[in-house]
Amino acid sequence: MEPSKEYLFTHKGFYFAANITTPEYLDSLETFEIRDSDVFIATYPKSGTVWTQNILSLIFHEGHRNGTENIDLMDRIPWLEYNIKHMDYSAFPSPRLFATHLPYYLTPRDLRNKRARVIYVTRNPKDVLVSYFHFSKIMVTLEKVSDFNIFMERFLAGKVLASSWLDHVTGWHSHAEDFNILFLTYEEMKKDLRSAVLKICNFVGKTLSEKEVESVVRQATFENMRKDPRANYENLSEFLREKKPGYFLRKGTTGDWKNMMTVAQSERVDEVLKEKMKNLPIKFIWDIN
Ligand code: A3P
Repeated sequence: MEPSKEYLFTHKGFYFAANITTPEYLDSLETFEIRDSDVFIATYPKSGTVWTQNILSLIFHEGHRNGTENIDLMDRIPWLEYNIKHMDYSAFPSPRLFATHLPYYLTPRDLRNKRARVIYVTRNPKDVLVSYFHFSKIMVTLEKVSDFNIFMERFLAGKVLASSWLDHVTGWHSHAEDFNILFLTYEEMKKDLRSAVLKICNFVGKTLSEKEVESVVRQATFENMRKDPRANYENLSEFLREKKPGYFLRKGTTGDWKNMMTVAQSERVDEVLKEKMKNLPIKFIWDIN
């Protein structure tokens, strides 16, 4: 079953959400002016983007807050390719922080010339798949597919927003040398959030006091983020989000796929992804366990 054109369009081989960006805008990003101090969070959807957005925002603003705590995360670290509020990114003070689901090859040229910094977060694809399935139900911009099997086949075929998980992850990892990039996994953040925070601090050149680090870690736990309406996308406009209940921060665990997928479905994902993943230049945490 093909994805509905009402929700998705392809541009240069990649699926984007319809109605919230245009091919012209996407093309203009090639020459988007990058500053050395910019930091980008790049992910495939449902890999821990908002979590990393929150951590990064806390790292940059902790200790010297200037009102940013009252601004929604989405506005503090906006999406590059979905400039929903038509903000003038060129007028943002440095350092600017952005989030993106772009594949490596559609990012601004200067990002590919190692200007600015990129934090790329990867997550176990089975957890991504299950998270994505639930997420589709609460977003206006995503097509509702009630049958998990159908959604799974679309995901494996890359016929969802942001296309193929495998292509996204493989692309970014195999072009790592073009970028000034830090790779993180959702699983390592979950296992040891403090170390992940310190890694990010180190990468972006921020030195926080012990107290500030603790504060970032505390505010970035699943439980605390869920309580914070500005961190959990509760205020997302009705234009994007369904009115019905459903949490953006749903479960926040590793291995939740086991509660959803049958053995046959898990094997089907292995069959499509595992062989190709062997060629990836990094060893994933979920391969080890
Ligand atoms: P689940 O649906 O499995 O709960 P993204 O931001 O890329 O869309 O990813 C969303 C996923 O990250 C959701 O996964 C969400 O719950 C999880 N997440 C967000 N904040 C988190 C946190 N502080 N700790 C753990 N997981 C978090």
